[in-house]
Amino acid sequence: MRLMICSVLLMMAFASCKTKVQDKEAVLNTEMHTFSNYEQVTCKHLDWKAIVDFDHKRIRGQATWSFENKSKAQHIHFDTYALGIKQVKVNGKVVTYNLGKFDPVYGSGLSIPIGENDSIVSIEYQTGPTAIALQWLTPEQTAGKVLPYLFTQCESIFARSLLPCQDVPAIRITYNADLQVPKGMMAVMSAKNPTERNPQGLYHFEMEVPIPSYLIALAVGDISYKAIDERSGVYTEPCMLDKAAWELSDIPAMMKAAEALGGPYKWGKYDVLIAPPSFPIGGMENPRLTFATPTIIAGDKSLVSLIAHEMAHSWSGNLVTNATWNDIWLNEGYTTYFERRIMESISGTSYNDMLWELGYQDMESDFKDFGMKSPDTRLRVELKGRNPGEGFTNIPYEKGAVFLRMLEENTGREKFDKYLNDYFQSNAFTPMTTKKCLEYMDEHLFNHDEALRKKLKVDEWVYEPGLPDNCPHTNPARFVAVDSARMAFEKGGMAKAIQTTAWSTHEWLQFLRKISHPLPADKMKDLDNAFKLTGTGNSEIADEWYKLCIASGYETAYPAMEKFLASVGRQKFLEPLYGEMMKSEKGKGMAKTIFSNSRSNYHPITALKIEKILKGK
Ligand code: BES
Ligand code: ZN
Repeated sequence: MRLMICSVLLMMAFASCKTKVQDKEAVLNTEMHTFSNYEQVTCKHLDWKAIVDFDHKRIRGQATWSFENKSKAQHIHFDTYALGIKQVKVNGKVVTYNLGKFDPVYGSGLSIPIGENDSIVSIEYQTGPTAIALQWLTPEQTAGKVLPYLFTQCESIFARSLLPCQDVPAIRITYNADLQVPKGMMAVMSAKNPTERNPQGLYHFEMEVPIPSYLIALAVGDISYKAIDERSGVYTEPCMLDKAAWELSDIPAMMKAAEALGGPYKWGKYDVLIAPPSFPIGGMENPRLTFATPTIIAGDKSLVSLIAHEMAHSWSGNLVTNATWNDIWLNEGYTTYFERRIMESISGTSYNDMLWELGYQDMESDFKDFGMKSPDTRLRVELKGRNPGEGFTNIPYEKGAVFLRMLEENTGREKFDKYLNDYFQSNAFTPMTTKKCLEYMDEHLFNHDEALRKKLKVDEWVYEPGLPDNCPHTNPARFVAVDSARMAFEKGGMAKAIQTTAWSTHEWLQFLRKISHPLPADKMKDLDNAFKLTGTGNSEIADEWYKLCIASGYETAYPAMEKFLASVGRQKFLEPLYGEMMKSEKGKGMAKTIFSNSRSNYHPITALKIEKILKGK
């Protein structure tokens, strides 16, 4: 008997010892891509004090978190990425913390002991040289070349390299920040922003509406503001300000269309920061302040659908947020659908049909690359244990959007719009899973009509790879005209016979995507002479044209293409061009030279991706 009690006691001691060890070491949750124990101890508010140090390319800061200990946990766990931790205090008292082993994708878990009644933890730290959320630019790498520049890009799991946080989209926090930046520089965040520079470089920010960590954002540089109306305006370098404000003058009209669809805008102001050319993506929906690439400033407002997209995230994503990165289609698919509805409202159906078709082509190209049976072509993707970045393909965007379009066409716009509006209002500020979304749909769109749900193949759309046979797809009338002009040209017609005066960027994209690759040298020359495509200031057209130039060996365009590759950091443009160059021996050499000359302009993650392409991976 005694032996039995002894062994039971021993087992208990072992078990409790085990839990303690587990508690102390923050363990990676591979489903949620976090080391944090956000469900047991939940962060609520961040008070961030920081100094932005351009000389050392680092931020020194103190992140003070207010938290709620829901389950009497003995530790609070945070995500960090390459942060140097200096000191940790809990309710004002210095404590011993544990920083776990570094993982190149997820970073390190930071475990801090807490008592039952504690509610505040303060972490003094500095960012590391490999902080993936940060891009530090020299003055030469900016548009105006006057001051250095810093911007952040935190989606999906990079906020942890800016500050210690519970880096999951399933919880929301409010924040305020006090920043010291070099004198003369402007700082803006995804928060209430100044419109004038502070001579001392001291800035205070408040974000009173709760947001997930991936929406924390900061930019510091030679940035000025110009209002478009009382709710919206543009932040950018002074040399870009007037051009950018003109290009984005449709924002108030877009906002009107967006509110008609999603309900009242809940974030106060809606401004756009036009970032320097090396900004690695098209746009980022940082609340109150979308960050966007300057490559949308085309001079003719032809690329502003990107702003409609980021604005739409103010509802889909920022208000109703994907609970996990597996549910990314809830952010990006809903947003792409929403974006198209805004564009339809401001530019009409015949214009918008072109956006749908180009999106459809992007989706088809992913189906071709991944294979129709690839699990990564499901709307709900499985990213457990993977880098969540792998989920950002055209599938969640375009298959997600066309799924919602199919629902709209089958249930009728009036009913669908009511569903959409209710979805945003009823689920505002909450995390959304795919399952919960489909349940909401069952109740509010299908009225529990099981037969209708089956007929529309909802489960196949969401949980199966490939594309169901009830996918809407219509060829836009404006592309029918482009296609016949292209065929006449391919059959021997002259370039100057093509009527392009009424063409928008989208007609050009259709023309350049569909034309035979390679195109004979005389045809390339004829096109270029007639339309001056080499050196075009329209980045979307430039990208398609240079791809065709590489495929056709049209060397006249190479110097301009090199310039484009050296100045633009947007991954979406760089990857296909480097990929195209790698298809020939001569191109491979060219790709290597251009990359080594341009690399310093690229975001570290972009540079890594291009490196992989150059290695043939
Ligand atoms: N939320 C995304 C940006 C993003 C994507 C961040 C992947 C991190 C990983 C943003 O809303 C977006 O979709 N941007 C697109 C533009 C849009 C018009 C399709 C982009 O950057 O190309
Ligand atoms: Zn998006």
